[in-house]
Amino acid sequence: MDYSVFVKEQIEEIKTSVGNHLAINALSGGVDSSVVTVLGHKALGDRLITVFIENGLMRRDEPEKVVKIFSDMGIPVRLIDAQKEFLGVLKGLTDPEEKRNAITRTFYATVFGRLVRETGAKFLFHGTILTDIEETVAGIKRQHNILAQIGIDPEKEYGYQVLEPLKTLRKDGVREVAKLLGLPPEISQRIPFPGPALATRIVGEVTEERLATVRTATAIVEEELGDTGAFQYLAVLLNDRATGIVHGKREFGQIIVVRCLHSLDARTATPAELPWEKLKRICDRITAIPDVNRCLYDLTPKPPATIEYI
Ligand code: XMP
Repeated sequence: MDYSVFVKEQIEEIKTSVGNHLAINALSGGVDSSVVTVLGHKALGDRLITVFIENGLMRRDEPEKVVKIFSDMGIPVRLIDAQKEFLGVLKGLTDPEEKRNAITRTFYATVFGRLVRETGAKFLFHGTILTDIEETVAGIKRQHNILAQIGIDPEKEYGYQVLEPLKTLRKDGVREVAKLLGLPPEISQRIPFPGPALATRIVGEVTEERLATVRTATAIVEEELGDTGAFQYLAVLLNDRATGIVHGKREFGQIIVVRCLHSLDARTATPAELPWEKLKRICDRITAIPDVNRCLYDLTPKPPATIEYI
């Protein structure tokens, strides 16, 4: 496929669909929403409002880094601080599906809905790709067309229409378009990171303190495993504790699980056979995080496990 033709066609199509109206899109920094952002800005300029919703669940420095990458490309991104709203709805929740639903609703119904009403945008861009649609039809995925899934008719409730410029591409195609549009490798080659972000890696309640722990562990794992070429690597905070000895004293500390997986499309995955030295260094660094005294490497493939823990 000639991706430069795809880019030209999509820009024309966006111009025609949106006309003189305003459009809005939420950027996460993932490759799909990044490509949509660049295509939309090429077509509409400042009639596309791009927001990055800081939900408090992102990785270390992620919101600022993503905003900077785009501002360096001449694309302004509004950083919306909604940390309190997300942490508020997550308070006391421990059930995985309840946590996911709370995040989805807060994102689309509360925060994004408010922005759409405030800006008067008539079109919303979504980074849906072909695989999302296929997996939804096959009943594998529950994340495509989230608005309909949570009972929101966008046209009726917000008066906007959803546009999905990437719906004919697969991930490899989106990565090619990202390169063609001049997005840096840290975006075009970015490993998958789920929409509910670090909340998928905290078993039990999501609190600011527990987020800080898993965020630090995530930074260590990403630093140490970035050169493996693996499909995805991550850190998870368990809801259990274990006895350990820290500074000569017994403590009942927290447990971090490390996961590093090879996969083609995330439908199945196998654990990477990491060098023992690498595993030991990760263990040393993770058990140096305050209150953490155990680090486990998860050998479970998908299936029977999933990649994330929630
Ligand atoms: P699981 O845990 O189901 O994850 O094996 C498969 C792949 O999908 C990612 N993932 C998500 N991505 N929104 C996303 O955009 C989500 O809610 C979500 N849940 C999981 C996960 O990181 C893995 O790559």
